[in-house]
Amino acid sequence: MVYDLIVLGGGPAGYLASERAGHAGMKVACVEKRSVGGVCLNEGCIPTKTLLYSAKLLDGAAHGDKYGVRTEGLSIDHAKVVARKDKVVKTLVAGVKSSLKANGVELISGEGVIIGKYEEDFAVKVNEEILTGKQLLIATGSSPAVPPIPGLKEGLASGFVLTNREILDIKEKPGSLVVIGGGVIGLEMASYFNSVGTKVTVIEMLDHIAGENDPELVGLLQKGYEKKGIVFHLNSKVTEVSEDGVTFEKGGESQRIAADKVLLSIGRRPNTSGVGLETIHVYTERGAIVTDNRMKTNIPGVYAAGDVNGKSMLAHTAYREAEVAVNNMLSKKDVMRYNAIPGVIYTNPELSSVGETEFSALGKGLKADVVKVPMRFSGRYIAENEGGDGIAKLVIDKSSRTLLGAQVLSNYSSEFIVACSTFIELQLTVDDIKEIVFPHPTVCEIIREAIFQY
Ligand code: NAI
Repeated sequence: MVYDLIVLGGGPAGYLASERAGHAGMKVACVEKRSVGGVCLNEGCIPTKTLLYSAKLLDGAAHGDKYGVRTEGLSIDHAKVVARKDKVVKTLVAGVKSSLKANGVELISGEGVIIGKYEEDFAVKVNEEILTGKQLLIATGSSPAVPPIPGLKEGLASGFVLTNREILDIKEKPGSLVVIGGGVIGLEMASYFNSVGTKVTVIEMLDHIAGENDPELVGLLQKGYEKKGIVFHLNSKVTEVSEDGVTFEKGGESQRIAADKVLLSIGRRPNTSGVGLETIHVYTERGAIVTDNRMKTNIPGVYAAGDVNGKSMLAHTAYREAEVAVNNMLSKKDVMRYNAIPGVIYTNPELSSVGETEFSALGKGLKADVVKVPMRFSGRYIAENEGGDGIAKLVIDKSSRTLLGAQVLSNYSSEFIVACSTFIELQLTVDDIKEIVFPHPTVCEIIREAIFQY
């Protein structure tokens, strides 16, 4: 049988594209070698948020006294937290499977490898069987980057060093954890293990954690976690991993920290090798598939979406890229825009951002004004955050008075940053936004407060 579309990978890009294409009447095969849902559902977004919710409850109870709530004998059952995480993942994986089925998608379990063209169609080998498809969507995702640090490979093999996959399954919380890389994964896991009582040290190569986020908000986040006991070593280069610790260089000096476990979270690389891209001459650059804004590769009929194109390694980007790809297969006009994609680090408090920061705007030569307000301007924030010191910032284009970016360090910010994405996408001016009614009392009112400061 010839499929209209073969999708390689059943993660957010792959499964959503399959569903959308199936819904539109295409005959679709979705090939997945592990579990549908990909990294996001099985070992990323969802499992971490499940763990972090338990940590949030624990933190809330631990500080209950501030709110007139007395708690005694508080403890965490890490094994139970992990078991609940497994249940949540199982429920959602089942949901994806049933949605694929409802949209007429054939889910094929196995590793799909492109082996070339068969007449006009693309040929994919799965479990010794050859499938052929008129079009291909490559959505094979990404894997943790493993740098050539002495002892790292051995540590990974022995289970002393963990990646985002294994750390979610350890049944006992380690007494101490060294996190290599203070990015998104590193900070979220550092946050969880700090809450449950593990001694956490973060080693970061750069002079700041949290990537390209606003430095002032990042500084506040770091200070907050330092108060809670996390030790950060910035400008630090790991030189060796041994069976019971990590050695790193900082300011020309070598230091060593003993650890029960090490988390490696220094970024991810697109999964492009072993996929058979060379058999149909799909173009890659620095290991990522090159796509245009319609998610088309250099080969007509071959699309790529999600982490594999290396543009924005986020599940929600993958969803939208999947839709853009399918719409273009169906000859519907649709292009991918990357300027209003929100990003969230689910620490406590959450750090949410979209668009330009003050510094990225400056770097691009944009003439921008910045409005900064303390989260204390929100009544709901004060009610729920005794002593909280969060900040919200808006970056506004001087001449058009439209929003260029927003950054918020606060609980719930993950839930309302999309309002700012919408304002950016719709190019609303400050005056347009002033006419929008926000529910009261909410933390999101901070955006309205900030807008009226301009
Ligand atoms: P990342 O790119 O967010 O952070 C990696 C960090 O490691 C950077 O700060 C980098 O400077 C540092 N680093 C690199 N090499 C190093 C070395 N040798 N020693 C010390 N530090 C080093 O990557 P991460 O955290 O692994 O996450 C991977 C991907 O997963 C990201 O693209 C992220 O966006 C995505 N993700 C998104 C989440 C979310 O949206 N909440 C949650 C988890 C992951």
